[in-house]
Amino acid sequence: MNWRVKGATQKALSILPGGIRLNLMMQMVLGDLRNLDRQIALKVRDWALSMKYLREAGIPLENSRMFEIGSGWYPVLPVCFVLAGARSVATYDITRHLSEKGMLRCLDSLAPQIPLIAETAQKTPAFITEKLNALRQKNTLAEMLEQSRIDYHAPADARRSGLSADSLDIVYSNSVFEHIPREIIREILAESFRILRPGGFIMHNVACNDHYAHFDKSISYVNFLRFSENQWRVWNNRLQFQNRMRAPEFLALARDAGFEIAAQHTHVAAGSREALRSFTIAPEFRSFSESDLATTTIDFIGRKPAKEWPGE
Ligand SMILES: C[S@@+](CC[C@H](N)C(=O)[O-])C[C@H]1O[C@@H](n2cnc3c(N)ncnc32)[C@H](O)[C@@H]1O
Repeated sequence: MNWRVKGATQKALSILPGGIRLNLMMQMVLGDLRNLDRQIALKVRDWALSMKYLREAGIPLENSRMFEIGSGWYPVLPVCFVLAGARSVATYDITRHLSEKGMLRCLDSLAPQIPLIAETAQKTPAFITEKLNALRQKNTLAEMLEQSRIDYHAPADARRSGLSADSLDIVYSNSVFEHIPREIIREILAESFRILRPGGFIMHNVACNDHYAHFDKSISYVNFLRFSENQWRVWNNRLQFQNRMRAPEFLALARDAGFEIAAQHTHVAAGSREALRSFTIAPEFRSFSESDLATTTIDFIGRKPAKEWPGE
């Protein structure tokens, strides 16, 4: 499908009553969710990468109290983090996407992923299988979530969690920050700083690339950088809002909120540099280096400084 057709369709759906549901149905018939097993496999890989980042940064997961921003439709990451030893995950979403049917479909699609989950979690496949089977035997979504030690809040805004100050170890998100306006990210980071214990961590995986390129193979992952803000407003839509922020801007916001950047991992999708040289970059992006423009994902870890005691 041409990306402009998708953009215009999503824009129309975003103003129709019931548009969010219709968009989900279209995703299932025509889009990303056609092959749910594949989508879930990709999310398990995102989680495995997050586990690698945590280990490399020396951040212990065992018994940690986690907070997820943007739960989405399938709770792959929270389920996997708990299987790997997290004490609990409080997950917040501004829209209530998760359903009992979605949870069951997610559990089905996790079955082929058991070897990867077990290896990453450093558990046996039998242990993971037993835990997933126990979830399947629950009767309601609420029971499944309770058994998985997931506290699902939706509709709920991660800017105002209502959680106590200094009460969490790790705040994370996956594929969320590229979809939220800058000022909202700023508020979410301020709230994260408040609820994390001193020495606690944020970890955000941000796909800062043109999502229209995920299905229209005729455009590159940096195609959206050719449009001025006014032009982009025509193609951007509320159902899949894309802020087009570049990697250093996310780090700057995290630092502004008080975090020290502990690790950052960036990736440039194949063909991005060549694509950048093939069109005129919109004035809004001309102050960035080619490398920052070409960066198509950034995953970063920030640390809330530990309290300093007198004499230290
Ligand atoms: C693209 S989805 C990603 C879902 C999931 N993390 C994943 O990896 O599949 C982004 C999610 O963030 C949620 N979201 C947006 N703004 C939010 C906010 N202020 N607080 C909590 N969730 C929010 C959206 O409703 C949406 O479900």
